[in-house]
Amino acid sequence: MTATIRQAHSSTFDANRDDRKTAGIMAARAKREKGSTPVTSFAEARQILRSTSMKQGGGGAEHFDTSNPDHAPVFFLDGAAHRKKRATIARYFTPKAIANRYHIIMEQVTAEQLGELRRTGTGRLDLMSFDLAVAVAADIVGLTVTDRKKMARRLAVSLSAAFYHQRNYLGRLYAVITKFFNSIDFFYNDVKPAIRDRRANPQDDVLSHLVKEGYSDKSILIECMTYAAAGMVTTREFIVMAAWHLFDNDALRERFLNGGEDDQFAILQEILRLEPIAAFLYRRAEADPGVADQSEGESFYALCLRDANMDEAAVGACPHALDPDRAARVKANGSFLSFGDGAHFCPGSQVALHETRLFLDALFRVPGIRLDRAPDIGWSDMLQSYELRNAVVTCERG
Ligand code: HEM
Repeated sequence: MTATIRQAHSSTFDANRDDRKTAGIMAARAKREKGSTPVTSFAEARQILRSTSMKQGGGGAEHFDTSNPDHAPVFFLDGAAHRKKRATIARYFTPKAIANRYHIIMEQVTAEQLGELRRTGTGRLDLMSFDLAVAVAADIVGLTVTDRKKMARRLAVSLSAAFYHQRNYLGRLYAVITKFFNSIDFFYNDVKPAIRDRRANPQDDVLSHLVKEGYSDKSILIECMTYAAAGMVTTREFIVMAAWHLFDNDALRERFLNGGEDDQFAILQEILRLEPIAAFLYRRAEADPGVADQSEGESFYALCLRDANMDEAAVGACPHALDPDRAARVKANGSFLSFGDGAHFCPGSQVALHETRLFLDALFRVPGIRLDRAPDIGWSDMLQSYELRNAVVTCERG
């Protein structure tokens, strides 16, 4: 209690201040899975995510055939098989790969988009952010053979195609994907040609690795869609959300534009803490063979990332205020649980932060840039996540 009071005194914010843009839609629409035990404390949620006796929960994870772990998507694996898989993909997410390889793509796509924005004087922010996120994740995966913009359209359709009562954020996406496996254009127009190309001409990307390891076409599609879902959809929302906060807050935008990279990252991570993309992660405790009748609710946990990220015991006073100095003050990782924690911690977090920083830094330097139309806030029941659409920016033509 004393610590909380001390922090409140050191904070510059009104205790009732709430900077969240998605608090309303979250309260109205978010629904955790039936039978799950909600975990709202930061410390408890992190402990569960870090526990070696917890398994990935929901999304069909418990029914997924992982008998051939080498060919199963990374988020359904646990224990040694999961560690092995993470080790094989780690090289695509190193700081060196980001600096030497993905930065060039981020810069190229940003320059292309902002060139078009300056030419026409107007642009849709969510379309730009999806195009950028697709370009970067596609390069990591190796989906570089076909037309990117057409691929983005095909992916957008595939990923918004259905409503599923599955549990896990990524698992829900997986459910949609497998159901439409035979019908989606993406497979035939993008994945197949890429597989053919990488067979003849291997590169340093996920797809070339899968081809070399002898994955089936279906397993390759699933991997591609994992990255599409995990990397493209999330980053699309994050970029628009961060832009919206910065457009609305002159002082914050000034600080972002004048700050060094570290300060820019601190601002972005604080925005992500306030507005996490995934509302829930799920974990299941391994059944205890010594207990005959274990109730499901007791062993199936819904980690409520929003509540955990607002937990004063972890984030300090005025938890709903956007305070880029918060993480440094409480000596924590700035995005708190928005990228997860423990073994499944998002491998793409640095990629997402870098591309968002680079794009927004360039966007806010466009002469006359302003937000002409704020995004509509929607809610995806399938993903249990907000969706920001139809944000329009305008600028001086030149
Ligand atoms: C702002 C953007 C992003 C957010 C908010 C985000 C969030 C998350 C979260 C919360 C998890 C943990 C899931 C769990 O514990 O069950 C995760 C895992 C994952 N993310 Fe991200 N992510 C983002 C961007 C990316 C990018 C750009 C990529 C790749 C290009 C990526 C690839 C993955 C993969 C492959 C996993 C599964 C890891 C595993 O299960 O071991 N993510 N992400």
